[in-house]
Amino acid sequence: MSLNGLPMDRDAGPFDPPRGITATRDARPVSPMTFHGGHQGWLVTGYEEVRQMMADTRFSSRQDIGVLHVPYEVPDMPVPTEPSPQIPGVFIAMDPPDHTRLRRRLTGAFTARRMKALEASIVAVTERQLEHLAGLTPPVDLVKEFALPVPVLVICELLGVPYGDRDRFQADSAQFMVKDQPIEQKMAAYLGLTGYLAELVTRKRAEPGDDILSDLARQEDLSIEELTGAAFLLLLAGHETTANMLSLGTFALLENPDQLADLRANPDLVPDAVEELLRYLSVADIFYRYATEDLELGGETIRAGSTVVVSLLAANRDPRRFEHPDALDVRRKARGHVAFGHGIHQCLGAQLARIELRAGIEGLLRRFPTLRLAVPAEQVPLRTDMNIYGVHSLLVTWEPSPA
Ligand code: HEM
Repeated sequence: MSLNGLPMDRDAGPFDPPRGITATRDARPVSPMTFHGGHQGWLVTGYEEVRQMMADTRFSSRQDIGVLHVPYEVPDMPVPTEPSPQIPGVFIAMDPPDHTRLRRRLTGAFTARRMKALEASIVAVTERQLEHLAGLTPPVDLVKEFALPVPVLVICELLGVPYGDRDRFQADSAQFMVKDQPIEQKMAAYLGLTGYLAELVTRKRAEPGDDILSDLARQEDLSIEELTGAAFLLLLAGHETTANMLSLGTFALLENPDQLADLRANPDLVPDAVEELLRYLSVADIFYRYATEDLELGGETIRAGSTVVVSLLAANRDPRRFEHPDALDVRRKARGHVAFGHGIHQCLGAQLARIELRAGIEGLLRRFPTLRLAVPAEQVPLRTDMNIYGVHSLLVTWEPSPA
């Protein structure tokens, strides 16, 4: 199966890049590729080349919000001949100076120091969810009962989105992540979600509270459309990614028993293990850019107007950067990976995600010493059909602890 000419099947195993991507990287880290419809573009898979490209703002981000504007994802969508129109507030798909103007308003709320101050409440949310999990009779779906609720609870609290409203946004946001579906369906989900968020930020503008969206709403020069777009981006980016890292990360540890045993015996390795899992799994893998002028990259000439696709997973498995890149090694110092991207769009929520992942993995190992898969690994449903990779569900079981 391929999308836009990109191989998608995990034919080398659930945690490894598709073989076609690995072979492309090893042969030519900046490779020409042909999209549906015959449009010529480029695929960037080498670590150095990916970093260089993501640090170069001559590659525009006004091409991709991973949802509505992904070119070629919808068959017959016309080939763009210029950067896409921007969606107000959705700064992941903007270039400077618009990107800078919006991102600047939020950096203060997501600094490492702010996040450190929130750590205790994130740990408390995680512990409550572990308590809930422990009260269930296994086998249970770890995604539904743990990996999804924790980041949703955390991002809701930070943004001031009522958790009780999750039915109003979770189905729409999940719908969005489905690749290769008719644009009408994506549009309906988008309108459902932004309709809900527009109401919410309008209320916050009238009666601000103590949360990140209220802080934005107090800034009168931001329009309701911009507030809605920013809320949409933060809500979506803030939970799908972390939820899939938690569930796929648990799956990867269960499939690597020696690594799991080492981590259980040495919980102080958890922060390093989290970086390694981020590198090894790179659940947010594929990103699009658009060359605004003729450029050289990795010895290749990329013409103005070309669409350029990067695979962060391929970069994070590049043997020129990481030794034995396809081995999961919780003792590796994996800092320097590009799982959070690189350059001006580097993940705003990286510190938040790290805290959630450390608390989630440490807590899960501590509370469930006998955790194991309840189905054969081959039967775990993989999210090859979604923009963020991971598992749709993960059935796990454990021995009840003696009373
Ligand atoms: C951007 C990955 C969690 C908010 C990004 C990018 C990546 C990424 C690769 C760069 C996109 C690009 O260059 O086009 C991840 C991963 C996560 C995670 C792997 C979890 C393990 C979060 C969380 C938030 C968040 C918890 C919470 C708010 C954002 C935002 C951007 C972003 C707002 C856009 C930044 C910009 O354009 O300046 N993320 N992310 N992410 N992420 Fe994350």
